[in-house]
Amino acid sequence: MYTKITGFFMTGTGNSYQVAKWFSESVKQVPAELFQVNENKQIDVNIGAQDLLVFSYPTHGFTAPWLMIKYIFRLPQSNGIHAVLLPTRAGTRMFGLTLPGMEGTAGYLIALLLWFKGYKIRGVAAVDMPSNWTAVHWGLNEKNVNIIFAKAAAKVTKLAQAITAGQTVYRGLLPLCTGLLLARISLMYLIIGQLVLAKLFFASNTCTGCGLCQRLCPKASIVMVGGKPHWTYTCDSCMACMNFCPQQSIQVSPLTVFLFAYIVSLPVTHWLTGQIGYEVMSIAPGIMIFLIQYIYTLGSVAFVCWLLHHLLRLKPVAALLAALSHTKYFRRYTAPGVSLQAIHRPPNRQPA
Ligand SMILES: Cc1cc2nc3c(=O)[nH]c(=O)nc-3n(C[C@H](O)[C@H](O)[C@H](O)COP(=O)(O)O)c2cc1C
Ligand code: SF4
Ligand code: SF4
Repeated sequence: MYTKITGFFMTGTGNSYQVAKWFSESVKQVPAELFQVNENKQIDVNIGAQDLLVFSYPTHGFTAPWLMIKYIFRLPQSNGIHAVLLPTRAGTRMFGLTLPGMEGTAGYLIALLLWFKGYKIRGVAAVDMPSNWTAVHWGLNEKNVNIIFAKAAAKVTKLAQAITAGQTVYRGLLPLCTGLLLARISLMYLIIGQLVLAKLFFASNTCTGCGLCQRLCPKASIVMVGGKPHWTYTCDSCMACMNFCPQQSIQVSPLTVFLFAYIVSLPVTHWLTGQIGYEVMSIAPGIMIFLIQYIYTLGSVAFVCWLLHHLLRLKPVAALLAALSHTKYFRRYTAPGVSLQAIHRPPNRQPA
């Protein structure tokens, strides 16, 4: 029997915290502590040899988010401490049906990293929670959220009881195979997503400059410039800032999306090879062509970000982008019953 359940949660909108909490509460006879995964470089959690570690985190781009991957690298080596992986994924409901998300490699990637560090994997199972990607879709309504929550709570309780009773549970082998087939998308997401996705956010004119988004960001990716949030290049798209902003001021504009897509997709290497310096470029190795396009992509993203940052200081520009934004019509999502204080604490945090 375990002496303690030590839960690690990375969460944007509370889903993964809730899953870790359900798990720990399902095993009444074992005390539990939950810790937030964040950018803090030091792991200040005491892990006992008889602990059961529970990791819960969102699926992003069919894999695990950077923050989670980096956190696992920072964990100490182990000599067989037991661990359970519970990635959450985008459950949704349509026409009265509950549809599952797709975790891809999110569970088994972290399982593999932990296994390399000497941890014993006792369970891997994804849990469907209401999708929180409100940059691309509206938040689910209360009724649908409650239905998904009830199913998820029952699933997590069963898992917790099975694992603490000695069973080993490996689920999601089909999503894992799909995730491996989609590994290119996951890789692109991890490389490009960080650079671009946060840059699609902007604060509309209703922003009061309260700074809450900056304080709660688990990646410390927001800086306040001139009383308004400015998104840097390290965001994991956890969606906390957008969904917890008290004014619902954080929007995504399709204009910005098109601008990025257009600029990034310009075939500069083709132009270079076709016109300027044809002789040199035609004998250049493929890797060089790739590097030129890559450097161009990074440079153009940085340039567009810089441009937008300055343009958005002009109120009419911010008003225009907000007026054309699809997200101003979207309901926001935060896990019901989960308080902001419970999930987004300062780095020198206390257990929940
Ligand atoms: C940027 C982004 C990418 C996502 N990618 C996936 C995905 O590939 N598959 C999936 O099932 N859910 C995906 N989701 C949904 C979240 O994983 C899901 O809603 C999760 O429960 C959110 O948990 P949290 O509130 O703890 O952050 C994505 C969400 C975001 C914001
Ligand atoms: S939380 Fe909202 S209102 Fe407050 S600074 Fe951020 S964007 Fe502005
Ligand atoms: S900037 Fe927003 S979406 Fe990105 S990591 Fe921070 S809180 Fe999450």
